[in-house]
Amino acid sequence: MNNGAIGVFDSGLGGLSAVRELKRILPSESIIYFGDTARVPYGGKSEDVIVKYALQDMRFLLKHNVKAILVACGTVSSVAMTALRNATDTPIVGVVEAAASAAERASKNRKIAVLGTAATVKSRSYEKILKNKDSALDIVAKPCPLFVPLVESGHISPKDKLTALAAEEYLSDVRRFGADTVILGCTHYPIIKDAIARKLRRGVSLIDTGKEAAIELARTLREADMLCEEGRDEDGIAR
Ligand code: DGL
Repeated sequence: MNNGAIGVFDSGLGGLSAVRELKRILPSESIIYFGDTARVPYGGKSEDVIVKYALQDMRFLLKHNVKAILVACGTVSSVAMTALRNATDTPIVGVVEAAASAAERASKNRKIAVLGTAATVKSRSYEKILKNKDSALDIVAKPCPLFVPLVESGHISPKDKLTALAAEEYLSDVRRFGADTVILGCTHYPIIKDAIARKLRRGVSLIDTGKEAAIELARTLREADMLCEEGRDEDGIAR
């Protein structure tokens, strides 16, 4: 048992999609959230800068004695997990592995699309894990650089014209590709899930990275007997 808080961070408010799921499955846990809104977006920055920012974000949370860290950012999870893990013994869960596993389980036609920031797509993080699971998977990855600034500036309504325009621009190739499963590879994207879904084929499974990572973190804490006292008897998916 461990009554410390769970630390969650992202470049901005996208990681709140993971917090929402954490609060649903582990309602008794305390959560400290850090969103680096002064420096968002991370996705167009160099790998070195992303690693530097990620280490600073993590150290901020560690100063608050968190018992575990959820990296609720597809970009940081794609390029900085090794640097983060080398810098602490505190358990850390990122979004890529959990989301890739969920996508692999969900896909029937074995065509998967990955939407992410420029840095995430460049890193090929999701593809590497997916191909390891099944080398026959057909995968496309599409950078969607305007989505994060649009979400951060409040263009989140399903009817928002700017977001719809950006979604059309980014997703027409993905629609033609015919994936039955689309990984929302950045934690900001679930916030504009409806605008994204409108541009894709009906019935496509959208994988919410923050949600999958929250489930993974809950499982990790339960297995390590690190849930808080009240949380140990909760009826969460984590059990
Ligand atoms: N939520 C972050 C992610 O998952 C956004 C990255 C950015 O700031 O560009 O990638």
